[in-house]
Amino acid sequence: MIGRLNHVAMVVPDLERAVSRYRDLLGATVTAPEDLPEHGVRVVFVRLPNTNVELLFPIGEKSPVAPFLAKNPSGGMHHVCYEVEDIEAAVATLLADGTLRVLNPKPKIGAHGKPVVFLHPKDNDGVLTELEQA
Ligand code: CO
Repeated sequence: MIGRLNHVAMVVPDLERAVSRYRDLLGATVTAPEDLPEHGVRVVFVRLPNTNVELLFPIGEKSPVAPFLAKNPSGGMHHVCYEVEDIEAAVATLLADGTLRVLNPKPKIGAHGKPVVFLHPKDNDGVLTELEQA
């Protein structure tokens, strides 16, 4: 079911500093910041040859990553995202099985403009897991 690792997401306390570190010190290509108000985040992608790092910074009153940053003031790893060929089929399989709870069985449009779902971290060894339509 799962294919490529699309990205690993980090919540960062200072987006400009993080961008500068990845771009200027570590020499990676980074995208321009993009606000996704419906997800409560400003996002930057660090483009790597084999995957991406997604830098997340909370925006808005009800950002879902704000509590994470409150608990982890220096930032931290937030989720991993795997690509799936067919997200509807993936959700159907997971709902039928029941091992991994799907937090939003109706896919949302994610940072790449593609449908995504999130799986409960407690069901997957403590790791919040995103599935993205490839
Ligand atoms: Co993500």
